[in-house]
Amino acid sequence: MAKTKATDILSLIEAEHRQVEQLFAEIEKAKKGKLHEHFNQIYKALNLHARAEELVFYPAMREYDETEEYVEEAEQEHEEVSVLLEEIKALQPTDSQFQEKLSELKEAVQHHVEEEESEIFSAVRECMDEQQLTELGQEFQKAKAKLEPDIEAALTR
Ligand SMILES: [Fe+2]
Ligand SMILES: [Fe+2]
Repeated sequence: MAKTKATDILSLIEAEHRQVEQLFAEIEKAKKGKLHEHFNQIYKALNLHARAEELVFYPAMREYDETEEYVEEAEQEHEEVSVLLEEIKALQPTDSQFQEKLSELKEAVQHHVEEEESEIFSAVRECMDEQQLTELGQEFQKAKAKLEPDIEAALTR
């Protein structure tokens, strides 16, 4: 097999965190008529990211004492984000709650991202080597490709 540039899972996760921040910055500047479209992008990106972490990253973290302790809280935070995403999805951008819930979502995501990139990433680096992180990166990409059709479908419901 040809050698392609392998990327470790932490770099992939970090890059997606930056993309999501970008999406939040864009929806804040968006015109009213475009809010729905922008929200759909956030919905898709966050769901793909969180589900892939739950399938690949968090199970790997459960393998080590140093990282296992972070999984439960991280999953709870994902659940909080999921609930908010579904609540916002059920609203019209013109609903008074839309902006409020969107701010709540942004805050919840920010908090979770900070936790992952500080405590969680450094604990992970203590127990997983570069090779494992690269393999997990490949699994992460595969998981996302598999999840994508379902998440797209959820958007049209
Ligand atoms: Fe996460
Ligand atoms: Fe994340």
